[in-house]
Amino acid sequence: MGELTDDRKILEARIEALGPWFQNLDINGVKTAPNHFLGDYPSFKWQGFKESIPEDLGGRSVLDVGCNAGFYTLEMKRRNAGRVVGIDSDPLYLRQARFAAERSGLDVEFRQMSVYDVEKLAEKFDLVIFMGVLYHLRHPLLALDLLHEHVVADQLLFQCLQRGDERVGDVEEDYDFSEWAVFDRATYPKLFFVENRYASDPTNWFVPNRAAVEAMLRSCGFAVECHPEREVYLCRRAERHYAVEPPPGIR
Ligand SMILES: C[S@@+](CC[C@H](N)C(=O)[O-])C[C@H]1O[C@@H](n2cnc3c(N)ncnc32)[C@H](O)[C@@H]1O
Repeated sequence: MGELTDDRKILEARIEALGPWFQNLDINGVKTAPNHFLGDYPSFKWQGFKESIPEDLGGRSVLDVGCNAGFYTLEMKRRNAGRVVGIDSDPLYLRQARFAAERSGLDVEFRQMSVYDVEKLAEKFDLVIFMGVLYHLRHPLLALDLLHEHVVADQLLFQCLQRGDERVGDVEEDYDFSEWAVFDRATYPKLFFVENRYASDPTNWFVPNRAAVEAMLRSCGFAVECHPEREVYLCRRAERHYAVEPPPGIR
């Protein structure tokens, strides 16, 4: 009994030392972010759309971009994915992810890499997860273009913070130069630019409304197949009609 308590104390201390955590994982009974401002995140979000991912991924390959502590990375491996890779630009989160993977005994790989560098993976994946990252980027369309071009073989699981109107209005193919009113419609695709901070986070740059999210996905060659939960989309790779190279210096 005493030994068990000691083991738990050691685990709690290790988890604390690896913090602060954004994702609230359950590692052998210890929660990593029990006081998360969004609640039990991202578990509660996952509950809302997990039915749209097959319970048996049958060996399909998965790339989790902006994997953080690996919540979705590990969930996909639990669902019998084959090769599973998580990338994140932040080494703190990758240390957490490696620890969580080690404790779970699941065979996944983590690499420190920015979404702007995915070409260096030189590999395509059946399912690419891109959850909660787009609004943290100064170059959101570039990131989507690069994912389309270099790593998405088939499906993209996507989520983005949204603000503004939740309706999607009709947009015409073209408007005359003299047309102004359409831009004032709440349902027109809009990206709100955050110059300073939103929710105390200086890395929140562009917050789209729902119409903008859907239009950006289409524009970057991702056809929405289902929208199982607010902000969450499962897309199929579609044709896009232009190629994109990242401008020099963008990482
Ligand atoms: C809000 S968290 C989302 C984490 C996880 N995908 C989820 O949905 O719970 C955003 C994550 O994106 C990562 N990130 C931010 N910019 C990135 C970039 N340029 N390339 C890769 N990851 C990035 C952050 O380090 C962080 O782990």
